[in-house]
Amino acid sequence: MIWIDGREVAAEGSLLDACRAAGADVPAFCEEPRLSAGGHCRACMVEMDGRMVAACTTPAAEGAVIHTQSERVQAYRRDLGELMLREASPQGWVGERIRAWGATGGRYGVAVPLGRQDHSHATIHFDADHCIRCRRCLRACEEIEGAFVFAIEGRGEASHLAWGGIPFSETDCVTCGACVELCPAGALVAGEAK
Ligand code: FES
Repeated sequence: MIWIDGREVAAEGSLLDACRAAGADVPAFCEEPRLSAGGHCRACMVEMDGRMVAACTTPAAEGAVIHTQSERVQAYRRDLGELMLREASPQGWVGERIRAWGATGGRYGVAVPLGRQDHSHATIHFDADHCIRCRRCLRACEEIEGAFVFAIEGRGEASHLAWGGIPFSETDCVTCGACVELCPAGALVAGEAK
């Protein structure tokens, strides 16, 4: 068994699975049940026996004591939100969530907007300023469709979603729509050509 916010549940699967089984509200931006665990966004950090760990990539360990809403965890989430708003302006449920934490984007300033958009495809559009680099699109493309359109290029603040420096319409995209469906931040959206 494992204790989540004082509630005892079976220690099965990942810590995130156990948190959900206990009814704990743990944000998970890059996790998606159909995809392999990514561990990219760090939104799912919780306290396990006094240590901060990523719930999606940590196994639910027998006897562990987890806190998902402690002051430490909530302060971490606000700070993560501030850092995310420095590098992007996520829309969709991710944007709503980090703003609900009280993140305003004021603490660390705003990095220079990427300003990169791609509207070359007939039905899939991309706006880099909304992208949080969670790699759900990349993993959806590879793991659901078996295509390999996306890559992450650059490091740190300069890392960004890429597809070989060509217009998106010239990639091997088969328009399955998995990337648009799983993008949590409004960076990849469906629509008519602009
Ligand atoms: S959901 Fe765990 S790191 Fe993104």
